[in-house]
Amino acid sequence: MAEQPADPGRRRFLTATTAVVGGVGVAFAAVPFVSAWKPSARAIAAGAAVTVDISKLEAGAQQLATWRKRPIFIIRRTPTLLEALPGEDGRLKDPGSEVVDQQPDYARNGYRSIKPDVLVLVGSCTHLGCAPKFHPEVQPEPWDDNWQGGFFCPCHNSKFDMAGRVYEGSPAPTNLVVPPYRFADDSTLVIGEDPEQEAA
Ligand code: FES
Repeated sequence: MAEQPADPGRRRFLTATTAVVGGVGVAFAAVPFVSAWKPSARAIAAGAAVTVDISKLEAGAQQLATWRKRPIFIIRRTPTLLEALPGEDGRLKDPGSEVVDQQPDYARNGYRSIKPDVLVLVGSCTHLGCAPKFHPEVQPEPWDDNWQGGFFCPCHNSKFDMAGRVYEGSPAPTNLVVPPYRFADDSTLVIGEDPEQEAA
């Protein structure tokens, strides 16, 4: 059979139709992709900052909060507890908070906090995630004859000082995490926001 002569007009039409269909296909394909990336209201809420009133938090006491479904420990340290911190350095794995990502830069100091007295920690052991218990009394304890107050994880006996710094000999590899936080005022914390977000 003799070959049909090429019809440039028909070819142009087919090419244009294919391009349009292809474009529609891309558009349809893009919708679920974009939807998958758009965070749900639930996801936004789960990641949102939380505001905590600490006006009733007494010296030596602990207050609990939740942020991103994680327990948050807020402690108001007494002068005695603060004075004991430097003396513990020699017994700790990371006394200078050198391990990055365990605290924001503004909590990379001897107190691991913005204000010396108020400590904010994620209440999850860095070994396998148990909840360390708060033991603020400066007294001999079964796990430490020279206990200066801090946190003890009963799951596998990790111990942390009053800045959440882990002791040598603990299975927990790193200090407890300090989450991002800022003070909205003297008695209000915003967990999940850095101080520089204050003006935002
Ligand atoms: S989970 Fe805390 S010591 Fe293992």
